[in-house]
Amino acid sequence: MAEGLESGPSSEYLFKVLVIGELGVGKTSIIKRYVHRLFSRNYRATIGVDFALKVLPWDPSTLIRLQLWDIAGQERFGNMTRVYYKEAVGAFVVFDVSRRSTFDAVLKWKSDLDSKVKLPNGEPIPAVLLANKCDEQWDDLENSPSTMDRYCKENGFIAWFETSAKENINIDEATRFLVKNILASDFIHLSENRDVDTVELTEGPVEAENKASCC
Ligand code: GTP
Ligand code: MG
Repeated sequence: MAEGLESGPSSEYLFKVLVIGELGVGKTSIIKRYVHRLFSRNYRATIGVDFALKVLPWDPSTLIRLQLWDIAGQERFGNMTRVYYKEAVGAFVVFDVSRRSTFDAVLKWKSDLDSKVKLPNGEPIPAVLLANKCDEQWDDLENSPSTMDRYCKENGFIAWFETSAKENINIDEATRFLVKNILASDFIHLSENRDVDTVELTEGPVEAENKASCC
């Protein structure tokens, strides 16, 4: 990474991305796999929120800092999500393919998200649906690609991916897709016109930098 930075990218972005969904669906595992390249079978429920930072050299002139907010599944029943969602520019909504109840809760998470955060231009933030634990058997769910595509269209997801934190399936692809969409948003270019060098879209907590790990 240092090499790429010697000449310095001409654009740097800080994107706050949320990872939400029911208890135990694999949010922390997806982030650990993506940022640290690790997977553990042990389950320790996240309390409140956790953070990770991934530095993503996007192209020779663009550096992206992805600040991933790992929100505990149990937070859907609390009052803090409004605070956690503030200034996010993208989200993953995760369910566990082996537990139908976690799919049934997806729309509760999506409406919680859409009601509490919007892009600066007033649009809903881009959200990608992750069907995690695809290394396991699907529960009683109609999961044909066309059904899932329709579900996404009807419910405002920009895409869905089958992922496995365990087997490292599609996590990089899903993230690239989301980042591409964030970069394509009009509001990025509006911001860019105001400040040609650096566009800081979120004010990240200092802890996030402390816990940071990069590629
Ligand atoms: P909360 O913090 O309680 O909201 O849960 P979480 O969504 O962060 O879930 P976590 O990442 O802690 O994973 C829960 C359990 O699922 C752990 O035992 C993980 O090892 C397991 N797990 C996560 N991802 C996968 C996967 O892709 N495949 C399989 N088979 N197991 C997974
Ligand atoms: Mg967790």
